[in-house]
Amino acid sequence: MDGNGRWAAARGRPRIAGHRRGARSVRRVVEASPEFGITTLTLYAFSSDNWGRPADEVAGLMDLFLGYLRRECQRCVDSGVRLSVIGRRDRLGPALIEAIERTEARTAAGSTLHLRLAVDYSARDAIVRAAAGLRDARVPSVEEFSRRINEATHSAPCTPDVDLLIRTSGERRLSDFLLWESAYAELLFTACPWPEFGKRELGGAIREFHRRERRFGRLHRGAQLVGSSSSENPSAGARRVSRIGVGR
Ligand code: FPP
Repeated sequence: MDGNGRWAAARGRPRIAGHRRGARSVRRVVEASPEFGITTLTLYAFSSDNWGRPADEVAGLMDLFLGYLRRECQRCVDSGVRLSVIGRRDRLGPALIEAIERTEARTAAGSTLHLRLAVDYSARDAIVRAAAGLRDARVPSVEEFSRRINEATHSAPCTPDVDLLIRTSGERRLSDFLLWESAYAELLFTACPWPEFGKRELGGAIREFHRRERRFGRLHRGAQLVGSSSSENPSAGARRVSRIGVGR
């Protein structure tokens, strides 16, 4: 969700004002996602490297996350949104951890959309932790290793891979976001700053996604992927977008 700081600076306002405006975009995108057939939406809210930002910005962001969880919990329950937070928890404040656990428990039955907020998240850290848990020299299957990565980030065991990864505000990097899960993600970079990203921009991204031909390393014959595959149903995402990551 990149571009909050620049959006604010361009208006002579403090960076936190951009993050607050970004929280409004979160609401718009979450509300619009089910209309586009999206079933899992992961928003990169705070990377592990973001701890290196000025203390007042970090504190402001943590307050925003806490306020968001407290405010949006009931709305999520009412609209069938399951909310999870992925990443490390050992460096978050007790009030935030409590709000995360409470929101996750209260929204656990939601089936309209799985909204995942990545907070203190680092894909490389998750991969390293998953590897550290391997006890013998046997090479694990991709599925088993994926499960270990999910465990390392408090993620649900069978979270699917990313189909579409959107990064806003003109940046063209992955910045340590869902590296393993994005192996076959379509990447979409837009100049739109996150505070101006909404339903129209999401719809445009989905249309662009549907124009892409996804082959998963294989060949197309007509509308079908041909040949056998070693991983589970890799062409499923080729027909319908369902899993989206929005990069910070
Ligand atoms: C990166 O853009 C953005 C962040 C580090 C914070 C993202 C947080 C929000 C959108 C707040 C709301 C989130 C929730 C879940 C309530 P940047 O500000 O570093 O962009 P810049 O490159 O313009 O400085």
